[in-house]
Amino acid sequence: MPFLESAEMTHAPRIAVLVSGRGSNLQALLDAEARGELGCSIAVVISDVPDAGGLDRAKDAGTPSRVVRWSDHANRDSFTTAICDVADEFSVDGLVLAGFMRILAPEAIDRFPNRIINIHPSLLPSFPGAHAVPQALAYGVALTGVTVHFVDREVDHGPIIAQESVPVEAGDDEVTLHRRIQQVEHRLLPEVVAAFAAGELDVDGRNVVWKRGGRAS
Ligand code: GAR
Repeated sequence: MPFLESAEMTHAPRIAVLVSGRGSNLQALLDAEARGELGCSIAVVISDVPDAGGLDRAKDAGTPSRVVRWSDHANRDSFTTAICDVADEFSVDGLVLAGFMRILAPEAIDRFPNRIINIHPSLLPSFPGAHAVPQALAYGVALTGVTVHFVDREVDHGPIIAQESVPVEAGDDEVTLHRRIQQVEHRLLPEVVAAFAAGELDVDGRNVVWKRGGRAS
């Protein structure tokens, strides 16, 4: 199924960016948008955490934001419905999970099929979940990295759009390794979102085909 094909678009592509924390990946997306390199507009930033740094970044950029608190909802289904309703309120074409630390219920995948992108700080399928960086260190891997993938009904599992490795260096701790991983994230995520917005990504089973014959980098 093609994504954001120009034939089905009646407006410039719009995305919602979901955050839970510092929002440095959101900042990379905002910066790419400001440079005219994102190919879409960030219509709204949604956070499940009321004091997430990402909300300040949205404010500084003049981008609308909303808080959907986990604790205001009885269960994951209700929380997910609220997130999707905000996304619909802003007429977005896709969601980008940029350090969003909650798992969305299947309703989100049904409402945005192959239109939800997640960034994860490991080479999936290694180290899924919320503690990928310390787990890679504890395991003693020589290489870890970054995965950007479409979200499906399983956690950190959907079709992989792009991956880049990051070597673990002698003396690395969680802070130093995560810092180098994030340098890659901040380049890779805007590149993937731009390709998504341009309709350049096709999903064929687990394989994502970059229509222009692969990534530029
Ligand atoms: C990023 O490194 C992202 O890959 C990770 O959270 C960090 C958020 O940083 N996401 C996950 O671990 C998802 N399981 P940021 O708030 O500075 O963008």
